[in-house]
Amino acid sequence: MSNTQTDPILDGLSLEQKASLTSGADFWTTKAVSGVPSIMLTDGPHGVRKQEEGSDHLGLSGSIPTTCFPPAVGLGSTFDVELLERVGVALGEEARAESVGVLLGPGINIKRSPLCGRNFEYISEDPLVSGVLGSALVRGLQSQGVGASLKHFAANNQEADRMRVSADIDERPLREIYLRGFQRVVEQEQPWTVMCSYNKINGVYASQDSWLLNTVLRDDWGFDGLVVSDWGAVSDRVAALAAGLDLEMPSTNGRTDAEIVAAVRAGELDESVVDTAAGRVAELVRKAVAGASDTPYDRDAHHGIAREAAAASIVLLKNDDAVLPLATDASVVVIGELGQNARYQGAGSSQVNPTRLDNALDSIRELTGAEVPFAAGYTTDGTDSVELAQEAVALAATAGTVLLFLGVPADQESEGFDRTDIELPATQLTLLDAVVAANPRTVVVLSNGGVVRLSGFADRVPAIVEGWLLGQAGGSAVAQMLYGVTNPSGRLTETIPVRLQDSPAFLDFGGENGHARYSEGLFVGYRWYDARDIAVSYAFGHGLSYTTFAYSDATATVDADGVTVRVTVTNTGARDGAEVVQVYSSLAASSVVRAPRSLAGFSKVFLVAGESREVQVTVRREDLAYWETRIGGWVVEGGEYLFEVGASSRDFRATAQVAIEGDLVLSPLNAESTMGEILANPIAGPIVMQTLAGASGEGAGLMADPSVFKMMASIPIARLAMFPGVDIDMEQLDQLFAAANAAQG
Ligand code: BGC
Repeated sequence: MSNTQTDPILDGLSLEQKASLTSGADFWTTKAVSGVPSIMLTDGPHGVRKQEEGSDHLGLSGSIPTTCFPPAVGLGSTFDVELLERVGVALGEEARAESVGVLLGPGINIKRSPLCGRNFEYISEDPLVSGVLGSALVRGLQSQGVGASLKHFAANNQEADRMRVSADIDERPLREIYLRGFQRVVEQEQPWTVMCSYNKINGVYASQDSWLLNTVLRDDWGFDGLVVSDWGAVSDRVAALAAGLDLEMPSTNGRTDAEIVAAVRAGELDESVVDTAAGRVAELVRKAVAGASDTPYDRDAHHGIAREAAAASIVLLKNDDAVLPLATDASVVVIGELGQNARYQGAGSSQVNPTRLDNALDSIRELTGAEVPFAAGYTTDGTDSVELAQEAVALAATAGTVLLFLGVPADQESEGFDRTDIELPATQLTLLDAVVAANPRTVVVLSNGGVVRLSGFADRVPAIVEGWLLGQAGGSAVAQMLYGVTNPSGRLTETIPVRLQDSPAFLDFGGENGHARYSEGLFVGYRWYDARDIAVSYAFGHGLSYTTFAYSDATATVDADGVTVRVTVTNTGARDGAEVVQVYSSLAASSVVRAPRSLAGFSKVFLVAGESREVQVTVRREDLAYWETRIGGWVVEGGEYLFEVGASSRDFRATAQVAIEGDLVLSPLNAESTMGEILANPIAGPIVMQTLAGASGEGAGLMADPSVFKMMASIPIARLAMFPGVDIDMEQLDQLFAAANAAQG
């Protein structure tokens, strides 16, 4: 057990009292025990979901009104660190005003498949984006004296059978893709709590995984906070406590506290383990109490932040012939139920009761000062809508431009289950066909938490606006964007595939018999589409603006922290706007399996029309590292790195190259080591080379011939020693290996 802590406050407490600190009093609060008061933990992540009374976990009983900021799918698309920190601050102010000590978020699980029912609550398919933006949210929130709960740790990438399924993942993808974002947030921000996930990882429940909770989280990453269970994630409480799960939520009515006490009394659990967990609860309570204050927050100002975040979340996917922005006096009709009745968040534990709710239709009418005609076109409850569709098509023919609002109905996207396809509802697609036939100048505006297939119509409409789920101010943010009051600056944090069948986890998403095998390995998201050279509808990182940007003069220089990439970016259009400058790294001649490129850094810059600026993107050396399974550590491979700089993962505008010195990887030598591995070892290598050079046998001759050296390099030394005429003394060699292994520690 690592990080054993003893807290003076525990001194006077009985074993029973200490055990009782390690589980909840009810759904949302910890127990008040002797000198330790109770605190409240509540959802999260994009608003404060504080239930008034009759707590019931998934929100059947109502919660108090608080600001509904855009869910993570939107916040991620902003690529805006500063803005997300402000959203975090606002969330902290609201949580504090409502006496909430810990807000249960952010969620930063990787979007492995577009089908995951909870993708709307997650930031990206890329660990760098998830880690950087997750850090910003935690930083903002905790600056207000409210704790974050980084979740769901770890590998909770599907909802199907989420409380039992085992995510079976190889070591490299686990470290490089699924844990990497968590590592960044933990190391940079020290979230007060980390929430362990429901699922198993390689057969072990996250809640009972000492490797995950102690070795990786605490020992490797230096986490000094508290691990809380996801609600109901504990299968064996005593095993979980021993594995580093400090606080079990919600209450088990004292049942599992009694199990802990019994295990200690039976000598099966060391009391110091209970002390450690209880100490961490006491420490969390102390921090929450210190942060408490009844300072009210400004609802209007927070609605404004929610709108700013929503505006920055919108991704303009397509805009042929500058159909957008619209002039306020343009002839426009709005079609689609979602235009007046927006979907603005997903279902499940994250569902916030908003303080206000903007809708696009009203906002468009307000902004234009015109009674813009509207037809619902379809229903969102699945009922037939032939008449609604006919009315809508008739209306479409009357206008200069149609704004057609489409999206995924609420009952298809939720916590607790996955989608079975990525199609828009058939009735909406039929309507789209008819509307486009009646009026080709149709702008599609989408509301969806997970990506939908656009390839069936993308080439038939001039403009597509990806409006995600945008929170309570999404409607007005969409209206402002359509009319150019704001300039879109969101970028895709996930690839939109041509077909679901193209996506990396297509063949085994969901798994079978309790196991989901992550057979695509490292190749998640754009890493997969790029490696397989698969056409996509819209690439990771893509998003248009009403202005244009030019890139020039990229350079890359190695410095103490890693690499600094500099590039000059110019706003070459007529409007002010923001660009997300993306830097992708690659190493062509690598000795390990790699994606063709990985996002290594990004920076969002605002440039007024005509402005030119040198943008600096810092690429941390650790973000260039891969997980070396032979030594169980991160390694930067030496070589000539290419940095591709541009506006998406498939739109590069400038490149720079730089040589980077690698870390020395010394894998332990033994008889099975190859000649290549031995010769690369600074101690054993020269000695073996000398032995071979001095020997008269055939082996030495072969090794001296560069044309066959490469082939020889892959032969294990014990096999080479058997070759006729090779004069290698394996006993001597074993001694040499022992000395070399000892020297490298
Ligand atoms: C969810 C968590 C949430 C918790 C409390 C669980 O079902 O997975 O994300 O924080 O409930 O509502």
